[in-house]
Amino acid sequence: MHSAERLDSGHLPPPPPPPPPSPGRNLPFIGKLKPFYLLSILVLLLAISFSISKTDQFKKLFFLRSNLLNPTVQKQISRNPIYTAPYCVLWMAPFLSGGGYSSEAWSYILALHNYSMNKNPIFNLKIEQHGDLENLEFWEGLPLDMRNLAVELYHRECKLNETVVVCHSEPGAWYPPLFDTLPCPPIGYGHFKAVVGRTMFETDRVNDEHVKRCNLLDFVWVPTDFHVKTFTESGVDPLKIVKIVQPVDLDFFDPVKYEALDLGSLGNSVMGSFSNGEKFVFLSIFKWEYRKGWDVLLRSYLKEFSGGDDVVLYLLTNPYHSDRDFGNKIVEYVEKSDLEEPKDGWARVYVIDEHIAQVDMPRLYKAANAFVLPSRGEGWGRPIVEAMAMTLPVIATNWSGPTEFMTEDNSYPLLVDRMSEVTEGPFKGHLWAEPSVNKLQMLMRHVMRNHEEAKARGTQARDDMMSKFSPEVVAGIVSDHIERIIDHAQ
Ligand SMILES: *[C@@H]1O[C@H](CO)[C@@H](O)[C@H](O)[C@H]1NC(C)=O
Ligand SMILES: *[C@@H]1O[C@H](CO)[C@@H](O)[C@H](O)[C@H]1NC(C)=O
Ligand SMILES: *[C@@H]1O[C@H](CO)[C@@H](O)[C@H](O)[C@H]1NC(C)=O
Repeated sequence: MHSAERLDSGHLPPPPPPPPPSPGRNLPFIGKLKPFYLLSILVLLLAISFSISKTDQFKKLFFLRSNLLNPTVQKQISRNPIYTAPYCVLWMAPFLSGGGYSSEAWSYILALHNYSMNKNPIFNLKIEQHGDLENLEFWEGLPLDMRNLAVELYHRECKLNETVVVCHSEPGAWYPPLFDTLPCPPIGYGHFKAVVGRTMFETDRVNDEHVKRCNLLDFVWVPTDFHVKTFTESGVDPLKIVKIVQPVDLDFFDPVKYEALDLGSLGNSVMGSFSNGEKFVFLSIFKWEYRKGWDVLLRSYLKEFSGGDDVVLYLLTNPYHSDRDFGNKIVEYVEKSDLEEPKDGWARVYVIDEHIAQVDMPRLYKAANAFVLPSRGEGWGRPIVEAMAMTLPVIATNWSGPTEFMTEDNSYPLLVDRMSEVTEGPFKGHLWAEPSVNKLQMLMRHVMRNHEEAKARGTQARDDMMSKFSPEVVAGIVSDHIERIIDHAQ
């Protein structure tokens, strides 16, 4: 069901909560205060919110603040002295982590900020770091204009009773958080105009704890029809669920603007012998976890290709509860498998395990001929969408998040063999997809051989991104929904 229908058909958000002690007071974490006062307010705030590991919390908060307040960035802030919109949207997300929620959150605030320049919505946007660790390397790799904008939005002032809070993170980070993070909403429920959760999940269901947390909020935004279904079936109140798709920055991920990165200078050779001829480049980008199907990818690729093929596979990966020794993990996987080395040697595999700054990502995609990710489950699949914006032909598993945007006209949806059980971790027993190894082999070969068709699908991919997931389109959807929340909650 669409949000508009829901709001128009009389299913209003829950009645306004009891008023807080002084509803008009400013949100306490706003950087105009001197550090001393900020510190004392934080002490108070954290003391009332929860009592675990206060010292670590401060260290983290101040790490964040010293980054955001880096003088070279701050010098460039252009403050807008005219403050018109009465309402605020406080968007709390792991802006500084560089992970999936982080890049998603960035794409929303960039889109909303631009939108507000032209459309004068009834709210101002404010941001706050929450929900994951801060990664200094990631922050420093962001374009300067993004860092400046973050500082500007971070300094906006909002009144509690006029603020819609968006908690954009995994539900375990929502108030009261299950781990060490600034809680969202910051001082618990009942003080704000409304609280919205933005989340997603990559298996066939949502666990009971997360369902309970979703149902505490006024609305739960999820990115795809897949999630509308899995969240509803798991017990989240369907009247609270709203599908809000994710934007992709088509101006930034625009292939005509970039020269390809020189792959020769990147990456470590893991399989196959060196050769410097023309090669067809498959690129995959993922965190090193079983869910991402790196085993499926290696198996398909090494079965299909050999040292005699003019092909190379580049894996850009980073650790996920693991060390960085990806080369050895791959070699070990191959040795333990039933894969046999072809007569003319293994096909070439390179691992890029160094940090690639966000500003260089378009150039990395540009250096590839195709993008491939046989994941077992995805919330959305950002690298897939970015590759599509860059007009690459994409092969990815046709299950979960990516079914929202992959079609047979704009990509190569990879068939699922069967569902399989998650065997480890907190989501043990959930189901996700086993992509077909054989079909992946065939699709990779097909994309290499059918250059024109692959190119046409890549072009279609960018067109589809333009019409459905451009920042303007998605900012319009978000803005409309927020305005409805504000109107109905008055
Ligand atoms: C919020 O509180 C302030 C101060 O108490 C009040 O002036 C303002 O009207 C309130 N705003 C809303 C939307 O209720
Ligand atoms: C925002 O607008 C600027 C200038 O119009 C443009 O260059 C930029 O790409 C836009 N960004 C997004 C995310 O819409
Ligand atoms: C991909 O999955 C969707 C949704 O489950 C289905 O409708 C579609 O036919 C599938 N496409 C392919 C190529 O398998």
